[in-house]
Amino acid sequence: MNSEFKKIAVIGSGTMGSGIALVLARAGIDVNIVDVEQKFLDLGVQSIENFLNSRIRKGKMNDQEVNILKKKIHPFLKLEDATRDIQLVIEAITEDEKSKKQLFEELEIHCDDQVIFATNTSAIKISELATATKRPDKFVGMHFFNPPALMNLVEVIRGDKTSDITIESIISLCKFLEKTPVLSKEAPGFIVNRLLWVFLNESYKLLENGIAERDHIDKAIKLGLNHPMGPFELSDYIGLDVVLEIGEYIKNQLGEQYEPASLLRKMVNDGKLGKKSGSGFYNY
Ligand SMILES: NC(=O)c1ccc[n+]([C@@H]2O[C@H](COP(=O)([O-])OP(=O)(O)OC[C@H]3O[C@@H](n4cnc5c(N)ncnc54)[C@H](O)[C@@H]3O)[C@@H](O)[C@H]2O)c1
Repeated sequence: MNSEFKKIAVIGSGTMGSGIALVLARAGIDVNIVDVEQKFLDLGVQSIENFLNSRIRKGKMNDQEVNILKKKIHPFLKLEDATRDIQLVIEAITEDEKSKKQLFEELEIHCDDQVIFATNTSAIKISELATATKRPDKFVGMHFFNPPALMNLVEVIRGDKTSDITIESIISLCKFLEKTPVLSKEAPGFIVNRLLWVFLNESYKLLENGIAERDHIDKAIKLGLNHPMGPFELSDYIGLDVVLEIGEYIKNQLGEQYEPASLLRKMVNDGKLGKKSGSGFYNY
């Protein structure tokens, strides 16, 4: 199987950008990865190396495979250089509409007309981001899940003006990457985060209203619904600030019934963000 995408620019080398770059390189695609500062770029490349080293340790990859893969990843600080000869941009910068629009305006200047623009945004409207470009037909959402190297799903999001050809190309790419694409129109939270928010937020309310204890809720969901993690374990893993951001966005777009539980707000205010801060619903 061949991919029409030989070289792809991934913008943002954080959690998602570095993970997406790894997935692309693993499939043999050249990746130009971009960040605003050398230290962020280094962190992104380091996290890819850490993942690859752990694959070697587990006997899942050998040195030669890892070396071939590493050569597929090319770090850049300038968009102008990173966008040369590419067929696709995957944007994975900070979740901020203004910054993303500004970036797409710049990309519009540097990229050839046929280049497809994909955004990994978790919630921002695809059509709104596309207004920063002159190619809304070639603008699409490509929502990977964390960590991209291990999570199989990609939500492919159609904006108002996204063409069928663009959707088909992106679906083929997902399959080439051995991911499973699902299609959604643009709506706050798409499929997974919309349902995830309601599920997590109701769990917080069960806890704060004293209906059940943390461990009982987590256990109930793992055994009763066959989820690998309970809602509190999952919240800590995602980061409570990220969960709150998703919830705020969905509430602002869809109405008061999506209002975040006060327990979640309090924990974020207190700096209890989950695994990354050392404590959340659990201590680490
Ligand atoms: N973290 C998740 O679980 C997750 C899952 C799915 C989608 N997303 C989405 O992916 C995107 C990235 O999230 P993340 O968690 O990787 O964030 P992150 O903070 O880990 O990384 C963002 C990176 O983008 C860089 N950046 C910011 N502005 C830039 C610019 N103009 N040009 C180049 N680089 C720039 C930052 O320096 C940083 O390294 C967001 O839109 C987020 O909503 C996140």
